[in-house]
Amino acid sequence: MALMDNIMARARANVRHIVLPEGNEPRTIQAAPIAVKEGIAKVTLLGNAEEIQAKAKELGVCLKDVAIVDPARDEKRPAYIEALCEIRKSKGVTPEQADKMLNDFLYYGIMMVKMGDADGMVSGAVHSTGDVLRPALQIIKGKKGIKSVSSSFLMESPNKNMGENGVVVFSDCAVIPCPTAEELAGIALAAAETARGLCGIEEPKVAMLSFSTKGSAKHELVDKVTQATQMAHEMAPELCLDGELQLDAALVPEVGELKAPGSKVAGHANVLVFPDLQAGNIGYKLTQRFGNCNAFGPVMQGLAAPVNDLSRGCSVNDIVSVIAITAAQANA
Ligand code: ACO
Repeated sequence: MALMDNIMARARANVRHIVLPEGNEPRTIQAAPIAVKEGIAKVTLLGNAEEIQAKAKELGVCLKDVAIVDPARDEKRPAYIEALCEIRKSKGVTPEQADKMLNDFLYYGIMMVKMGDADGMVSGAVHSTGDVLRPALQIIKGKKGIKSVSSSFLMESPNKNMGENGVVVFSDCAVIPCPTAEELAGIALAAAETARGLCGIEEPKVAMLSFSTKGSAKHELVDKVTQATQMAHEMAPELCLDGELQLDAALVPEVGELKAPGSKVAGHANVLVFPDLQAGNIGYKLTQRFGNCNAFGPVMQGLAAPVNDLSRGCSVNDIVSVIAITAAQANA
């Protein structure tokens, strides 16, 4: 089964409620009823109902099965203000400040998720990654035991010999600019979980990437990756993980055999952990543009409830896919 079909099936298994704060945005308005019709989620758009309906009419879209919540008039707003003050107590947030924060629909959507009025949120068709992530990090925060939230891209190659039947999880490509060794180890464990829970990869094989394989180069940047590898082994001794590995040693069996003989990961990796955000972000885009791979994500990992970001260049189909990913994460 293709990766997205698999994810959609996981979303349909238990239909979840996803909130879309950019309720006035044309691609979002078009995606919402498709997600509902496909049976992958119940959807709420945030915004003024008359304005959203007028835009939908212009687009020829029927929103009869999509809910609309206007944060300015919602009866739950006072409860959200109170809860937001409590959550941000250490930052000294007053009711007036909380009320002002909730005028930003990204904060309103996040509070719906936090208060259990939605199972997940998707945004970013018109907002930057930072704008989408900041309220999630401040309010939803990491799952118990997770120090740093990170992300993965689910890459699907036409070459079925790559990774797990063409699917390889890339991490972190969107969140932590310059991870410490401990953060890198955490990213590796979270990416393995994403591979299992979202891609159905039963045995993640995690490669800790570098420009060196098993000591072939000496540099402090390589030391950070070997240290992260050691930490990840200590944190999850059962996980099939190896490093430091160059990309070719991680993916190509003959090269893996030559450069890292005896490694269970080298040549067979289905999860790639990049040493920093520059490498990860450039790496997934190269793979997508040069390698003709599908790229789904960024999928946030480690948050206590699913929140996902869209690219500002996203299509209607991309939004439907990210709604499916978010609903599938809520089911994982
Ligand atoms: N995990 C958990 N919590 C975090 C993390 C993290 N990785 N990063 C920040 N936080 C917390 C902070 O502790 C803080 O909590 P507090 O307010 O309760 O004290 C809160 O989040 C805000 O932290 P700041 O450091 O003030 O937030 P910042 O403005 O730096 O934003 C962000 C954090 C958005 C993740 C930042 O690291 C960032 O911009 N990353 C890169 C995003 C990006 O541009 N990606 C590339 C493009 S995406 C693409 O191409 C698909």
